[in-house]
Amino acid sequence: MITIENEPPGVAARIEYLLDKAFGPGRHRKTVQKLRDGRLPAFAFIARDAGTLVGTIRLWNIRVGGKWNALLLGPIAVDAAWRDRGVGDQLIRHSLRAAYAARHPAVLLVGDEPYYRRFGFRAAGLDNVTLPGPVDRRRFLALELLPGGLAGVRGPVEATGRRVRLGRPGDCLRAA
Ligand SMILES: CC(C)(COP(=O)(O)OP(=O)(O)OC[C@H]1O[C@@H](n2cnc3c(N)ncnc32)[C@H](O)[C@@H]1OP(=O)(O)O)[C@@H](O)C(=O)NCCC(=O)NCCS
Repeated sequence: MITIENEPPGVAARIEYLLDKAFGPGRHRKTVQKLRDGRLPAFAFIARDAGTLVGTIRLWNIRVGGKWNALLLGPIAVDAAWRDRGVGDQLIRHSLRAAYAARHPAVLLVGDEPYYRRFGFRAAGLDNVTLPGPVDRRRFLALELLPGGLAGVRGPVEATGRRVRLGRPGDCLRAA
């Protein structure tokens, strides 16, 4: 049975492996990575099947135009051997419930619209929003969690999550 839980300490290497397999080394050069580097995620969940870590999702605090608070969803990855069994669906719905419960107004992402539209993400309404690098605008998607959460949204997206402080080698990542 698939279970979703908060990302615990000690699984970072397994998650990096999953992400490398899913996205390849180019993932570190993505525009959205600039909004994640050096920050702690707002939410991080994993999926397990009988104890085995089979999926990961992380969401990050961002602000648009200095005014509109939102979350940036991604990356999400599911081990290839566990795909098409609803693991990604569970990770995303769990994340959206957590974000809604914490009163986050909206979630943005850059990803495949044919996958994310089932959760309500749309490419509309982001014409005046800029990311810190090139992006295929058709893949730049948003979901309002609170009514009017993105009304009138415009301006550059900036990272607002807590900064990571690196301690001694072998330490876990800690908030600054
Ligand atoms: C995208 C991903 C997280 C989905 O996880 P999953 O557990 O397989 O997803 P689910 O089981 O919830 O959903 C499977 C459905 O989504 C569809 N789907 C999967 N990836 C898709 C994509 N990129 N575009 C459109 N549809 C997609 C499948 O065809 C399947 O369709 P069906 O329900 O009609 O059969 C997983 O395929 C993955 O890790 N991919 C590589 C990393 C990646 O591309 N992540 C971000 C996507 S932008």
